[in-house]
Amino acid sequence: MSELSVNHLLGIKYLNKKDIELIFETADHFKEVINRPIKKVPSLRDITIANLFFENSTRTKLSFELAEKRLSADVINFSASQSSVKKGETLIDTVNNILSMKVDMVIMRHPNPGASVFLSQHVGASIINAGDGAHEHPTQALLDSYSIRERLGEVKGKNVVIVGDILHSRVALSNIYALKLQGANVMVCGPKTLLPKHIDKLGVKVETNLRKALNWCDVANMLRVQNERMDISYFPSTREYTQQFGVNKALLDSLNKEITIMHPGPINRGVEITSDVADSKQAIILDQVQNGVAIRMAVIYLLASKIKQ
Ligand code: NCD
Repeated sequence: MSELSVNHLLGIKYLNKKDIELIFETADHFKEVINRPIKKVPSLRDITIANLFFENSTRTKLSFELAEKRLSADVINFSASQSSVKKGETLIDTVNNILSMKVDMVIMRHPNPGASVFLSQHVGASIINAGDGAHEHPTQALLDSYSIRERLGEVKGKNVVIVGDILHSRVALSNIYALKLQGANVMVCGPKTLLPKHIDKLGVKVETNLRKALNWCDVANMLRVQNERMDISYFPSTREYTQQFGVNKALLDSLNKEITIMHPGPINRGVEITSDVADSKQAIILDQVQNGVAIRMAVIYLLASKIKQ
């Protein structure tokens, strides 16, 4: 049976093309399972998973928890605001304490880039990165590509533009790695101040004109401006940002083709996209959320099968 080349999911950077294919095939199976009247499989009855969230999350946390429960894993939840981290405990101590209670897998979201790589080098559990600062968010990129594959048949050869705050976005970096690995053409588009200086080194096109970017693409992935990661102003005003980089229905209708709109959530309605776009047939935003559960079931299942050996 095929298996993943890695023991942890720390970032898309550490995966190969075969890993992504295996995750998608496994997710196809789980997607079928979660659409059955009985949405649960007993696959991980002997596995215990800890969800460690040191940063806010709605979708990702719920999605992981649901994925774990649908696989029949035992689940414990930890959120930093209610924990001893506030009393000065180190990350490794916190996690080792949890692991001594016989936990097999840790899903972690953390504000520091590299936190999950660091943890994987110091503790004896399988680690899944659920977002580490502005670095990577691998399961989001997987569910994004999976949703493109579902809507457009395949990812290979498709033109995908990622629009907005590329500089502070872990979704952008993981998407760039994932899309390139699968043979998509990738462009980033946003205000110059929100595009990392050497981003073209990752093999992506760079565009600051939204209309040009949208006319080029098959898919536009609209990102939120990550105000919480900014200590200075990167553009004059939100109004001006929306005028230049916001997508509205009139703009979409004026393009030379019908493109697919994606958003990882949370949406700032009226800023990066208007409500009529977010709720239109061109948008696959809720499909992304639904696919997130199947993708996370697949990743957890595949990593857990490596633990048991
Ligand atoms: C993203 C995140 O947390 O990085 N959201 C998510 O996981 N669905 C994007 C964001 O916060 O804008």
